[in-house]
Amino acid sequence: MKTPEPFKIKMVENLNRLSKQQREKKIKKAGYNVFKLRSEDVYIDMLTDSGTSAMSDKQVSRMIETEQAYAGSDSYYDLKKTVEDIFCFERFLVVHQGRGAENVLYSVILDEGDYVPNNMHFDTTKANVKHKGGTPVNLVIDEAYDPEKKLDFKGNMDTEKLKSLIEEKGPENVPIIMLTVTNNTGGGQPVSMENIKEVSKIAKDHDIPFFLDACRFAENAYFIKKREKGYGDKSIREITREMFSYADGFTFSAKKEGLVNIGGLLGIRDEELHLKCKNLSIIIEGFPTYGGLACRELSAMAQGMREVIKDGYQEYRHQQVKFLGDELLDRDIPLIEPIGGHAVFVDAKRFLPDIPQKHFPAQALTTELYKEAGIRGVELGTSAFGETDEEGNIVPAEMENMRLAVPRRVYTINQLRYVAESLKEIFDERHNIKGMKRTYAPELLGHFTAEFKPIG
Ligand code: F0G
Repeated sequence: MKTPEPFKIKMVENLNRLSKQQREKKIKKAGYNVFKLRSEDVYIDMLTDSGTSAMSDKQVSRMIETEQAYAGSDSYYDLKKTVEDIFCFERFLVVHQGRGAENVLYSVILDEGDYVPNNMHFDTTKANVKHKGGTPVNLVIDEAYDPEKKLDFKGNMDTEKLKSLIEEKGPENVPIIMLTVTNNTGGGQPVSMENIKEVSKIAKDHDIPFFLDACRFAENAYFIKKREKGYGDKSIREITREMFSYADGFTFSAKKEGLVNIGGLLGIRDEELHLKCKNLSIIIEGFPTYGGLACRELSAMAQGMREVIKDGYQEYRHQQVKFLGDELLDRDIPLIEPIGGHAVFVDAKRFLPDIPQKHFPAQALTTELYKEAGIRGVELGTSAFGETDEEGNIVPAEMENMRLAVPRRVYTINQLRYVAESLKEIFDERHNIKGMKRTYAPELLGHFTAEFKPIG
């Protein structure tokens, strides 16, 4: 690794390592769904990079220093200054997390029967659109579905597909255009500045608001710095400011690149839309200067956002995720390439080619990794994104991945190497892995609470 960690460790959390027999019992009891495990029974937790970052000493000290007030605490004004500085947005609402922003926004702008284009919706964004009677549409470039295709900006939206959708459905039925940076569902792949600009122009031409789903904005900005012509000498802050300058609004889960355990933002330029969202937000999230959070969370978020845009931090972060990816590729594990910004996505279709998608190969692999090594990844395949047709048949998702998310500033290189070695052992014995039968799933966000049984 070229750039060592730009921090040293001040406090540690001891880990618990169960035996394989104990883990077998735990996963069976959990209905073969890793969301139902107790985290104390997990050795290395790569379920998500959301809300799992290690905070800095500065973040924690600001949490203690700040006032706790119902309205107008200094933490809010610190956050406001930071949002204005990094995102260049004057109007924003504090919400409890990303899906809080989605709920407020879609409640205000979406009518039943509307369409919401995105490069790719993540699980909660898709569910929030559906929940309000809308149809989420994924318009990412076709290459995004080919895990082996190496492109610099594989998260880009196909602008021809976007224009066709607007023409076909009518701009009056497309109340918003979203672009997710980086594209989580498609492997944490970045979107280029050029694409952001183009999508923004199409939105303006049709008088449709253009919003960023900005959970991983700085990781995206770092990719632009490294890969897009003309950005090599710019700072992450400068690139971020340009990215946001093309947007009419944004949703932001601070649980990712706010480096906090909870929190989110909804940024809106338009005064009238902001007012409507603010009034709803007071009912369902909280007064705008705390938005469902304790004031200390706002302080931690403001400080975290200032840390996440540091070029040195991003360099370390990207090298860390790439390290895990390279260790796996060296061991012939099939991945989505290039390696994304926050996670490594293992392609279960190629890892377990004999298991049909209706038998949930990515779920089977996720279960196996926990059983064998105590590592918790997450299924992002047919359980998370598949559908059920009118006859109750499973319609497989386009991609079938097990995501190994890398929590920020949490795991060491040794721990990541252990993950790669463990997965290699499973890869060598993969012919013994059987598919799964799903025994329960609710209609929306099924993967969180679904239950399974191994086949045979
Ligand atoms: N948008 C994207 C692209 C996300 O990745 C997430 C969350 C959200 C919105 C919602 O944010 O969790 O704060 O409500 N992704 C997490 C993950 C949960 O594991 O990737 P939230």
